[in-house]
Amino acid sequence: MSFDLIVKNATLADGRGGIDIACKDGRIAAVEPGLEAEAAQMIDAGGQFVTPPFVDPHFHLDATLSLGRPRMNVSGTLLEGIALWGELKPLQSAEEIAARALRYCDLAVSQGLLAVRSHVDVCDDSLKGVEALLEVRRQVAPYLDLQLVAFPQDGLYRDPTAEANLIRALDMGVDVVGGIPHFERTMAAGAASVTRLCEIAAERGLRVDMHCDETDDPMSRHVETLAFEAQRLGLQGRVAGSHLTSMHSMDNYYVSKLIPLMAEAGVAVVPNPLINIMIQGRHDSYPRRRGMTRVRELRDAGLTVAFGSDCVMDPWYSLGSADMLEVAAMGLHVGQLSSRADMAWCLDAVTANPAAVMGLEGYGIAPGCNADMVILQARDAIEAIRLKATRLKVIRRGRLIAETPARIARLDLDGRPGAVNPSDYAPDV
Ligand code: FE2
Repeated sequence: MSFDLIVKNATLADGRGGIDIACKDGRIAAVEPGLEAEAAQMIDAGGQFVTPPFVDPHFHLDATLSLGRPRMNVSGTLLEGIALWGELKPLQSAEEIAARALRYCDLAVSQGLLAVRSHVDVCDDSLKGVEALLEVRRQVAPYLDLQLVAFPQDGLYRDPTAEANLIRALDMGVDVVGGIPHFERTMAAGAASVTRLCEIAAERGLRVDMHCDETDDPMSRHVETLAFEAQRLGLQGRVAGSHLTSMHSMDNYYVSKLIPLMAEAGVAVVPNPLINIMIQGRHDSYPRRRGMTRVRELRDAGLTVAFGSDCVMDPWYSLGSADMLEVAAMGLHVGQLSSRADMAWCLDAVTANPAAVMGLEGYGIAPGCNADMVILQARDAIEAIRLKATRLKVIRRGRLIAETPARIARLDLDGRPGAVNPSDYAPDV
């Protein structure tokens, strides 16, 4: 049998080395050692680590790359970011939003990031962001799976036209129902918004992904309502709570009751480590709270936990580079996930786990899956995170769509090696 592509000599996440991955008609046909077969294209992975593509379960594609327009966020807080975004919205056209989003997707592909769930602000009666990102979703479909969340940034009830706009956005083809209960005027209004949004999702058979409790307030408890509504409406496995930073500050007894409810309700958890560590704790003196939700405890209770990047060069965050290994590294540090098993799990948190949150089909390195993968300049998952490893080759549906030369420095030192490959330093443990 002749294949379209064979990736030779790959090392996989389960530790198997010397594996050949054969691809045919956009799917993986075989994953086995010593495959003797013909292929139109052969790629030698050289024993390097091969992973399914990175997946970002939480992003804002309508705001990305707008840093500095019309001004910078001086306080660094979430609320100034929202105010600044409100100033920018009337200034930008659908064409500008689409152009920036497409440019970001180019960067994402170069980083092996081939699936993104992006929120799109529906609190703009023109819905130009929705129009722009629906067009971007269509254009990038051959190389990137873009899922859109209807996000009432200014509050479902706080903004008088938000609910009508959210319904219009869903009618236009936006995939997922979003929300922001902690931004409503009262806790009661926040809870009511969660109920209403979950009902809209249940009526339409859609998933839910809500910005939820993105504060340091230990009494911000909308995730409780989210889990309760997920269970009541039969949405188990289809609801994600993004951020959940208030859980960092909650009373421990209350959390011991909350986490089992979330587990029963099948709610997934999407912390955004870079943004949470940068934005939360701004009202503290010292000690200053870390502002990331209880990743280890939620994971150990059986919940799906996926790390998102949230922002790249926008009103909330000045940095970022579509690098999900940077996101994983920050999640690892802030969550103190330092055992070897925990560090390796942090790669799952930016690959398989967000793929499950998004409901991606055919994800993984196994026969029958989509022929999508990334060859990294690393030996394994831990080294990939440690080095923010170079994406040597990015493959989508069996086609090579991006490549980056290996990072190897030339040295000119008497009596020392002539070159340094950062991937040559790992101890055998
Ligand atoms: Fe967000």
